[in-house]
Amino acid sequence: MTEIPAKPVLLTGASGALGRQLARKLGAAGWTLVLTDIVPFPDPVPAGSRFVRADLNDGPTVLRLAEGCGMILHFGGVSTEQPFEAILGPNIRGLFHIYEAARREKARVLFASSNHSIGFHERETKLDDDCQFMPDGYYGLSKAYGELMGRMYWFKHGVENVNVRIGSSFPEPAEARMLATWLSYDDLVRLCVRATLAPKVGSCVIWGASNNSRTFWGHDSREALDWLPEDSADGHAGRVGNITSGDPVIERYQGGGYTAIDYSRAEAPPAPLFGKK
Ligand SMILES: NC(=O)c1ccc[n+]([C@@H]2O[C@H](COP(=O)([O-])OP(=O)(O)OC[C@H]3O[C@@H](n4cnc5c(N)ncnc54)[C@H](O)[C@@H]3O)[C@@H](O)[C@H]2O)c1
Repeated sequence: MTEIPAKPVLLTGASGALGRQLARKLGAAGWTLVLTDIVPFPDPVPAGSRFVRADLNDGPTVLRLAEGCGMILHFGGVSTEQPFEAILGPNIRGLFHIYEAARREKARVLFASSNHSIGFHERETKLDDDCQFMPDGYYGLSKAYGELMGRMYWFKHGVENVNVRIGSSFPEPAEARMLATWLSYDDLVRLCVRATLAPKVGSCVIWGASNNSRTFWGHDSREALDWLPEDSADGHAGRVGNITSGDPVIERYQGGGYTAIDYSRAEAPPAPLFGKK
């Protein structure tokens, strides 16, 4: 990792699993980071960076945090399926505050979206970035809304944004589905670097997965970013390839376990009425 952005970079969700990876690796590369989270930052703050504890619900504070920043890596918010009321503040109102800050600073946004925005597509359906949203819960719905917010701010205000539909970003794949969805931490960091440094990104979608041969996903805007994943889940197939849930709902859909949370249909739904095959 080499080039350093001209302006500081705001990283939300800095105390979370992915935020901590990004803070450590981008900080070590010499980036000037403004780190923020609602809980304390558990690691040493990298030299030249600072941490400010804040709630994404607090609009004026988010505006202040973004002052002078050219990029917002937005990883903060509720990151699992939760009741609607728990998601509303951090993921919907909080994202609005992020986009208002980006608009004022003429900053670019990377939004940590999720495969759960499209989770009710069947696993056999190979998706391109123009597929329909098929959220698999309130969390996935908030990610679909977040992507649409980015689209609106691009067309109306020229705020550039990269919407990364992250699959499963963990140290290693833990079950068979992750042989398709796994995104290594290093590929994630490289993606954030390219999303920050690429000359032009417009408003685009990236499938956040490593170079996995079992992938569910096809075309996206990675060429514009000059990003290609370098890692792969393939080498973990022997270890995790037979770890499945045994639940027909979970195994049918791309969103896996989230599709079955609070699932109340008595009969399986018919094949989708839309979506590319
Ligand atoms: N890890 C994955 O595989 C994965 C997959 C898809 C999407 N994502 C997305 O990536 C982002 C980071 O994921 P993660 O795995 O690091 O999750 P995480 O839960 O570890 O981190 C999220 C952080 O957001 C903070 N946060 C929550 N509410 C907040 C609020 N109101 N104000 C300020 N900060 C708040 C939390 O304290 C936490 O530190 C999330 O947006 C998540 O939805 C992650």
